[in-house]
Amino acid sequence: KIITPYARDEVFADEMRIVLRNCGLIDPENIKDYIARDGYKELGTVLTELEPMKIIEMIDESGLRGRGGAGFRTGLKWKFTNQAEGKEKYVIANADEGEPGTSKDRLIMEGDPHTLLESMAIAGYVIGANTGYIYIRGEYQLAVSRLETAIQQAENLGLLGDNIFDSGFDFEIKIREGAGAYVCGEETALIKSIEGERGEPQVKPPYPPNEGLWGQPTLVNNVETLANIPVIIKKGAEWFSNIGTETCPGTKVFTLSGDVENEGVIEVPMGTPLREIIEDFGGGIADDREFKMAQSGGTSGGCMPKTLLDTPMDYDSLAEIGMTLGSGALLIMDETHCIVDMVKCFMRFFKHESCGKCVPCREGNTRFYNILDKISQGEGALEDLDRLKDLADTMSKTALCGLGQTAPTPIYTTLRYFKDEYLNHIEDKVCTTGSCRDLTAP
Ligand code: NAI
Repeated sequence: KIITPYARDEVFADEMRIVLRNCGLIDPENIKDYIARDGYKELGTVLTELEPMKIIEMIDESGLRGRGGAGFRTGLKWKFTNQAEGKEKYVIANADEGEPGTSKDRLIMEGDPHTLLESMAIAGYVIGANTGYIYIRGEYQLAVSRLETAIQQAENLGLLGDNIFDSGFDFEIKIREGAGAYVCGEETALIKSIEGERGEPQVKPPYPPNEGLWGQPTLVNNVETLANIPVIIKKGAEWFSNIGTETCPGTKVFTLSGDVENEGVIEVPMGTPLREIIEDFGGGIADDREFKMAQSGGTSGGCMPKTLLDTPMDYDSLAEIGMTLGSGALLIMDETHCIVDMVKCFMRFFKHESCGKCVPCREGNTRFYNILDKISQGEGALEDLDRLKDLADTMSKTALCGLGQTAPTPIYTTLRYFKDEYLNHIEDKVCTTGSCRDLTAP
């Protein structure tokens, strides 16, 4: 069964919706529906009553952290961009959601496009920008068309454009579509792509708040991060900081997929245990099979075994055990799948998506794949496990961007928790699940 935020049913009884608050309750193509649910009210309050620094304090006190995956403090990022000097400043909504198994930003934009526009305009006012870009996956055509409609409707009502709410503040939003490169979700590659250059990551620092689009101070925030802003302004920092965990307040939108009864997008308080997400929302493992592994944070996240089912799902709890929450992808696997085969699939993805700019990532992912392919075909040697580990250490320390730095995470976590399966393939020459595939076959 596929669950979507657009339809409420019993699966969602325990959800907590901040980001998805309007999804399913408004017609996303009709701005009046959004306004009827207090839409653009917070933009009005901000422009007519609040100083930028007051809003930055509020966001900072709320404890909101970036929902693209890294969990950087949003208030701090807004403060850096506000304080940076530049001829012009820009806001970019990172909607290039490329993490396999993640589709939360798509559903937010398709179900409630005005939330993103309102939040970007608030951000623009706070940091001193008059232009915002939504950099969106080219595959997300429904979201693109709904955003285009929403921008047009907001401009017609004077909620975007010149002199919004008679405040003297001008803000326009432009859409830029990506062309399918995973690496363009990385903020510096994304910026290059908007500039019309090849989408390759750049060395950081300088960070975009100081030197971003066309060398100017730029605030890059993920769609889900931005969608929290109007609610924090409406209900206050304290209200928000009491949801979730102390160091990771608020909710998280997870994309649940794989061998569960119910797949789809759900929003729950940060820190909700993995077991609860799988059982209460996912309806448990499908076909009465056994849980084997949960992939947290997409391909670059960690592989969580049964013993970690009670882990609270938030940035810090996962970081403590060497995993990442990432963008909230949760791929659940039952006992019938092979871990070596799965990691090989991930490495095939990374090998394909590496932009090739830095050697550790370009070479490393190909070598990961080749070694895993050998092991999965029963031709591996014990030394291959050391090679995987050495390569992982080199890549995580030397790759230029997050792609190469985090590609080793599935290697580390499966060597730690599922070593037996590697050994079965190497020593006994068997895949106990019988599910290893030849990925080179047509
Ligand atoms: P990062 O840790 O380099 O930076 C996170 C954010 O904090 C960036 O916006 C960066 O500019 C800002 N930042 C960090 N230090 C700063 C400083 N001193 N001054 C100003 N700003 C600073 O992480 P990165 O590479 O941006 O993101 C990695 C994450 O992306 C991973 O956790 C991964 O899970 C996630 N990811 C998400 C995908 C998706 O589809 N949503 C796809 C692939 C990866």
